[in-house]
Amino acid sequence: MEQTVTFHNGNTMPKVGLGTFRVEEGQELVEAVKHAIVSGYRSIDTARIYDNEQSVGEGIRQGIEAAGISRADLFITTKLWLDDYGYEESQTAYQASLDRLGLDYADLYLLHWPGQDTQLYIDSWKGLEKLYNDGKVRNIGVSNFNIEHLDRLLEEASVKPVINQIEFTPYLNQQELRDYLKEKFIVAESWSPLMNGEILTNEVVMNIAEKHGKSPAQIIIRWNIEKDVVIIPKSVTPSRIEENLNIFDFELTKEDLYELDQLNEDRRNGPDPAEYNGH
Ligand SMILES: NC(=O)c1ccc[n+]([C@@H]2O[C@H](COP(=O)([O-])OP(=O)(O)OC[C@H]3O[C@@H](n4cnc5c(N)ncnc54)[C@H](OP(=O)(O)O)[C@@H]3O)[C@@H](O)[C@H]2O)c1
Repeated sequence: MEQTVTFHNGNTMPKVGLGTFRVEEGQELVEAVKHAIVSGYRSIDTARIYDNEQSVGEGIRQGIEAAGISRADLFITTKLWLDDYGYEESQTAYQASLDRLGLDYADLYLLHWPGQDTQLYIDSWKGLEKLYNDGKVRNIGVSNFNIEHLDRLLEEASVKPVINQIEFTPYLNQQELRDYLKEKFIVAESWSPLMNGEILTNEVVMNIAEKHGKSPAQIIIRWNIEKDVVIIPKSVTPSRIEENLNIFDFELTKEDLYELDQLNEDRRNGPDPAEYNGH
């Protein structure tokens, strides 16, 4: 199986990356990012609101050196927080994120949430389009956008988002939204894919894991990529970081996929994008 997806603009992104939510600035995060890169990860996901871009940047620099690769081999995502929405504000916030990361470009910049003000997310998107058209960012996308948000955005957009990063788990399979994204050639990406560990003790997931001689986390990660969903599981544990990338040597069966599909309850763990305003 290919280890990257190709966007509608021809650029590519690794299917598996490292998440960094709820890890503070500091040595633990620097080491995790470095270890991920040395272990073969090429994609790292952060955000302004995670308050950890400096350590992510330091981990990237150390990882590049230790792995003997170059910056261009990596795919770095960061996100615009709602407090910084606006046409001018989005461009200023992007530069501030780059300064903290110590990078001169990001591979992907996302609107983190739609928020409750349609005009404001459209103005912010125009700011991201300007960054993209000026060659300051490689790709632009959104996160937590539902069909209504995207319909509205696409009416106004001159650059289509490459990706929508959404909550996607066996309990919330987002079939309608994923069908919509596929039709528009927008890639789906999952956040909190392991449900912070909760899904790993599900009996169906554990049984499938045992059958394949894999861990429950590997089953969920493989399930994501077989559903054409890019995934960024978070771990600061070296053995888990390695385990989470080691999913390209097996396949789920039709029966496995059927059983996982049956777990859907349309149940969210995180906020509902239709209602969330950042607080
Ligand atoms: N766009 C958005 O609104 C949004 C929202 C939430 C998250 N995200 C992104 O998505 C990423 C992933 O989501 P998340 O951090 O919320 O949670 P997650 O990836 O679902 O789960 C992370 C938790 O699972 C544990 N874990 C990781 N690999 C494991 C393994 N192989 N076996 C057992 N446990 C394992 C980690 O523990 P250790 O670290 O202790 O190993 C950590 O406690 C975030 O880090 C962030 O980058 C985006």
